[in-house]
Amino acid sequence: MMESPEHSGRAACGALIVPPSQVQHILAICDRLRLIALPYQHGGRGGREVCFTSSSDSKAARAIPLHAIAASALALGPPEDPELAALLASGEVRFEAQYHPPPARGRRSEAGQIAQSGDDSNCSSCPEAYIPGRVRCPGNFDFRFIELFAGIGGFRLGLEAVGGHCVFASEMDKGAASLYEEHFGEKPFGDITAVASHDIPEHDLLTAGFPCQPFSTLGEQPGFTDTKGTLFREIVRVLKALQPRACLLENVVGLLTCDGGAVYEAIVTELEGCGYTISHRVINSRTLTPQNRKRVYIVGIRQDLLLPPFSFPYIPDLGRRCGDILEGACANAANYTLSEAQWEKMRAAPTFRGWRSLAWADRPAAAIVSHYRRDLGNTQVVPRDPPHNPRFFTQRECARLQGFPESFPAEGFDFYHFIGNAVTAPVVAVLAGAILCHLEHEQQGGCNCPGLAEGLQTVCKASPAHLSDRLINFPDGSQESLGCIVSS
Ligand SMILES: C[S@@+](CC[C@H](N)C(=O)[O-])C[C@H]1O[C@@H](n2cnc3c(N)ncnc32)[C@H](O)[C@@H]1O
Repeated sequence: MMESPEHSGRAACGALIVPPSQVQHILAICDRLRLIALPYQHGGRGGREVCFTSSSDSKAARAIPLHAIAASALALGPPEDPELAALLASGEVRFEAQYHPPPARGRRSEAGQIAQSGDDSNCSSCPEAYIPGRVRCPGNFDFRFIELFAGIGGFRLGLEAVGGHCVFASEMDKGAASLYEEHFGEKPFGDITAVASHDIPEHDLLTAGFPCQPFSTLGEQPGFTDTKGTLFREIVRVLKALQPRACLLENVVGLLTCDGGAVYEAIVTELEGCGYTISHRVINSRTLTPQNRKRVYIVGIRQDLLLPPFSFPYIPDLGRRCGDILEGACANAANYTLSEAQWEKMRAAPTFRGWRSLAWADRPAAAIVSHYRRDLGNTQVVPRDPPHNPRFFTQRECARLQGFPESFPAEGFDFYHFIGNAVTAPVVAVLAGAILCHLEHEQQGGCNCPGLAEGLQTVCKASPAHLSDRLINFPDGSQESLGCIVSS
């Protein structure tokens, strides 16, 4: 056994022990026979691994760790492949069933990359925006909201978390509307263009994630020249007629750059024309859920309320990772695993970036898109153990990435489309808390982190049970609790 002190600490595995001059040849055989983990499989992300068996002798044999299934097969007897069988019989190459690889950090892959190891657990510390002496807003408000272009109700999930009551929702897509009804017990109205303003009830907050295709950087950005782009004017119509105290809109970041910024400028001008002061911020959902999803959130506050400018709240980065939301062994993996043809097509797409394109457990996922699983060039997949191809996210995993609760019905192929279009619910909760706090308490000096605790609770509801237990409280000066999810 070639174990040195620095080689201890990682689980033993099966490995081929080979002379340095034979490394490339044996690697080629291993590739041909699929004996080593590939870059898209667990254990293969850092490239093909070749270990030194001695830290002082550069001429010493090298070890090529095999994946578990290949090692178990070799442990049972000589391989069927004549070339490898001959090398093992000659003693030139040895199989060691209990090889102890060196520690992961600093280990060099064949390609010369430093092998990746997991990120350290990341628990957000006290928010820098916390101001001692200010009260922490209870974050539970009694307000009425409407949800235009409701989809499957991402806004409603976040708004109900901070005490909102939905008084009107509109969604034209029958599939999305029926899922909405299944979860919330209320059927949204259909086409908003067919609803007269006087049929919409009075409300405090108008919310809308208006159709984004005309502004998305994935398309040609026709902006307002596209009929879907003009649906924005429905928001303007309702704001003008009903004058809620505030509005919260969400869209793709491409909205800001569409037509050199002219489209966003026109949007702000129209909203200001309705009597609102407008501000916006690009927020990445990855602060609260393990998904890199940058979206622009636009807040409008009615000018005649004479409030100071609205400032967007501090949102802690919980450092969450895919491992927090993966169904793991429970997932019906066979139904989600890519066929050879799908996997080949995905790898051939110009957007494919090798192992970086996969959703590793220790990293946040890419944005879930509305054509997830349909457009393989824009679909992130989850690595599996060798010898399996990667798999798609399950619908439940996508729901968790968007902060939708475990109680939400997440089934069927179309669910990918609906959830990819949705807004991230915990981000809405935190923003709505800040808006309501601004409306209710600003004259009293403002509050600390309004809506934050509710946003975090929304995160918990969208996590597997073992993680939702990990919502811990840490005391601030006034013994109020914020909250923090520890991913460890
Ligand atoms: C970007 S999605 C909004 C998703 C939503 N925020 C959620 O969390 O699920 C836009 C939605 O607007 C809907 N829509 C488009 N035109 C509409 C119309 N004229 N009336 C009502 N809904 C419409 C689409 O069907 C789509 O579900």
